[in-house]
Parts: sequence; C-alpha cells; structure tokens
Amino acid sequence: MDGNKDLGFEILKDEIEKLIGFECDKYSEKFLKRRIGVRMKISGAGEDYKAYAQIIKDNEEERRRLKKELTVHTTNFFRDKSLWELLTREIIPSALSKNKLTDSITIWSAGCSTGEEPLTIAICALEAQASSIRKKKIKIIATDIDPETIKKAQEARYEEEQFKEMEPRLKEKYFLKNADGTYSPTSGIRQCIEYQVQNILTAKITGCEMIFCRNTVIYLDLEAKRWLYSKFHKSLKEEGFLVLGKSEILQGEAKDMFQPYDNDERVYVRI
Ligand SMILES: C[S@@+](CC[C@H](N)C(=O)[O-])C[C@H]1O[C@@H](n2cnc3c(N)ncnc32)[C@H](O)[C@@H]1O
Repeated sequence: MDGNKDLGFEILKDEIEKLIGFECDKYSEKFLKRRIGVRMKISGAGEDYKAYAQIIKDNEEERRRLKKELTVHTTNFFRDKSLWELLTREIIPSALSKNKLTDSITIWSAGCSTGEEPLTIAICALEAQASSIRKKKIKIIATDIDPETIKKAQEARYEEEQFKEMEPRLKEKYFLKNADGTYSPTSGIRQCIEYQVQNILTAKITGCEMIFCRNTVIYLDLEAKRWLYSKFHKSLKEEGFLVLGKSEILQGEAKDMFQPYDNDERVYVRI
C-alpha cells in the first residue's frame, strides 16, 4: 500500500467535505475513487490526490463538476416498469384503505434526481385513486442533495425521449407540450409534489406512508446504510412501505425492522 497516496486521498476527502459539503466518509472507497478519478483525469491531476485537492480549492467550476460526478443523477419515468404496476394495483390502494381518519397520504421520494420518480409516483397515485372510492390528498416530498438537480426538477421540462417507458395515454393526460418541443407536467400532478434540497442522512421527514429510496443508497458504506434504514423506520408510519432500487437489499438489523412485501420489486413493509 502506498502511504503517501493514502494520505493524499484522506486530505482530498477532507477538502471535498469542506468545499462542497459531500460527506465522503459515508460512501464506499471504491465508489469515491472511481468517481473522483474520472474528474482527476479530466482536470489534469492524473493520479495525484494532493494536486486535485489544490485544483478544487482554486477552481469553482471544477468543484461544481466534481459534485455532479459524485451525485449520479440517472433516472427516467417509470424506471423498472413492473414496480409501478404493483404500486398502482396494490400498494397505493392499500395505503388509501389504511388510517381511515387521515385525509392525506405522505410519500417521500429520497434521492429524487430531476423529478421523474416523484412524477411517476404522482401519476400512479392519481390513477389508483381514480378507480378507488376512497380519495385522499397525495403529498409527495421529493428531496435530493444536489441543488442544481432540484432546480431542474422544479423547472420540469422533459424531452420526448424521456417518455419511452410511459404509456402514451398517461403522457397525454398528465403532460403539456411546450413551444420548444419539451413537455411539462400539468398543475394536477405538480401540486402533489414539494421539492426540497436535503441530504437523506440528515433530513427530518416523518409520518410517511411510503418511502422511495431507489438507486441512491448503493453508494453509501455499510454503516451509513444501517443508520439510514433505522431512520427510515422512524420516518414511516406503522405498516408503511419502503421501496428500494433493484440492486439494493436490506442487510443486518434492518431485516428486523422491515419484512419483505415483494422481494423482486424490493418493496418492504415496516414492522
Ligand atoms: C441515480 S439517482 C436516482 C434517482 C431515482 N431515485 C431513480 O431511481 O430513478 C440518485 C440521486 O441521489 C442523489 N443523492 C446521492 N446522495 C444523496 C444524499 N446523501 N442525499 C440525498 N440525495 C442524494 C443524487 O444527487 C442523485 O440525484
């Protein structure tokens, strides 16, 4: 092991936390080295961590690019299609029928990226309500650590190719075409969603019937994941649903806090 290189990496992680507020210690080393390495090569620092620490100290644009590289934003409407069928057919109707005394459902989309996930949730919830006698107000709290991403989500202008997975009738029902050829959601689904810049590790959101945290925790280290799942347990109401990404599974003590509802779709119920 190269001690100098390791020390350089530790110094760089401290600088990243100070300069862009990204808590490197919560993420796996493999993920950090891969992502930071991409920016190091492009910026001319090569494999020299100390040189890259200096570059980000001096260069605001590089800090912005590094943050973008560390927060992977890939997403699309109806990503993992079968999950949304299950949501519309079973999970939303089940949430609607529980807690008869409350007139709203709170859903947290944690790591919402540019808004495709919370909009998909809103569409499924409205579609499920349409065929249910029980109606409740749908409140989706959509959070992401990256302010630029949240700004894009709030601007809500989507290109034609982003609708590949969405049934054309849903696109027609819930989106309006803009003069520049992009599409924006109707006020009906917009008003279900409240966007916030929040780190999932520090956000204080409670009273949720459902939490979606998909393709966001994969980069966290094991300890941060454990902490997060026990936090989600507190954020969810009894028998609330936790939905993870397809490559994510509950580990350790989290298995005692949630029971599987649908293993294939990574849907769990709070015990
Ligand atoms: C790959 S996207 C997933 C988007 C969506 N959930 C999906 O599955 O399609 C991951 C998002 O998580 C956000 N993210 C990463 N770490 C985060 C953290 N600690 N707190 C909040 N958001 C975070 C990133 O900024 C990014 O927009």
